[in-house]
Amino acid sequence: MKKVAVLTSGGDAPGMNAAIRSVVRCGLDKGWEMYGVRQGYQGLINGLFVPMGARDVGGIIQKGGTILGSARCLEFKTIEGQKKGIRQLNQAGIDGLIVIGGNGSQSGACALANLGYPVVGVSSTIDNDLYGCDITIGVDTAMNIVLEAIDRIKITASSHQRAFLIEVMGRDCGYLALMCGIAGGAEMVVIPEVDIEPGDVAKVIDEAYEKGKSHAIILVAEGAKYNASMLQTFFRDHKEELGFSIRVTILGHVQRGGNPTAFDRLLASRLGAAAVERLAGGETGVMVGLSKGEYKSIPLTDVVANKKTLDLKMVELARKLD
Ligand code: ADP
Ligand code: F6P
Repeated sequence: MKKVAVLTSGGDAPGMNAAIRSVVRCGLDKGWEMYGVRQGYQGLINGLFVPMGARDVGGIIQKGGTILGSARCLEFKTIEGQKKGIRQLNQAGIDGLIVIGGNGSQSGACALANLGYPVVGVSSTIDNDLYGCDITIGVDTAMNIVLEAIDRIKITASSHQRAFLIEVMGRDCGYLALMCGIAGGAEMVVIPEVDIEPGDVAKVIDEAYEKGKSHAIILVAEGAKYNASMLQTFFRDHKEELGFSIRVTILGHVQRGGNPTAFDRLLASRLGAAAVERLAGGETGVMVGLSKGEYKSIPLTDVVANKKTLDLKMVELARKLD
């Protein structure tokens, strides 16, 4: 390995910069020439390579987002797009690639590995939906942002005796909603993994009112069968079933924009270093992730073929603590 490139792809996650910094500096430490690819797989197809020295990644460990930029690139889902990317890497004399991103990005990395190009993934997404790892880069920061929002909303909710539907990110996965629901003291979590009807939510809100609570907080994952807007529409027509009046807050991209926590900076620094070690050791077609306290290599074919499941014990705990 002499020349190695790193890219960030898909939804940005706080800690991606710390991972870029770690990859670049650990690669330089091996005596490699390091490159960044701008704008994810779109930049790969267009050959947007930039040399990266130690000073180019200075002052970024504390910053959210990604200095390399990210993108969603439809063309890369095609074999032609993937081959264009490999041609660009070969023309630039780059011998290996490190891909920092979530499920879709790791599918892209898997496709490159299947075509014979040396690639290692780094698990990074606020959704925490990557198979084979317990927690990914960005989750801890996003959870802390959500918790701060819940704490603030509770104050105004109590003043006005209201119920709030707070929608958090998670396209196909309820991890953020579940964990923040528990840590934020929500009355209920509405997640894609559990079949919940609007009537079930109405019942919980009404019960909270009857118990004499000053507010009710319902955490809703955006990917749930009924998201916050759908529930709001339902409640508009069923006001009589609820003691509290309802308000909705959709946290959206606020959750992705924060500066990384200590946990995310450390996780990203370690995973970046692990990715370099794996590539140096000749591994390819794997993603590095934290699992049961260890920094493991998970085959990308497994990452792509399997869905991460939620810990049902936590779903039970959320119910008990409401
Ligand atoms: P994330 O990595 O955060 O899950 P996306 O799902 O949007 O984000 O994926 C990011 C990018 O990865 C996509 O825009 C596309 O370029 C690439 N990608 C996604 N799925 C595939 C796939 N099945 N094969 C090849 N590339 C893919
Ligand atoms: O995958 C990360 C994520 O933040 C999801 O939770 C969310 O559904 C999606 O990205 C939003 O994507 P975009 O930034 O393209 O709106």
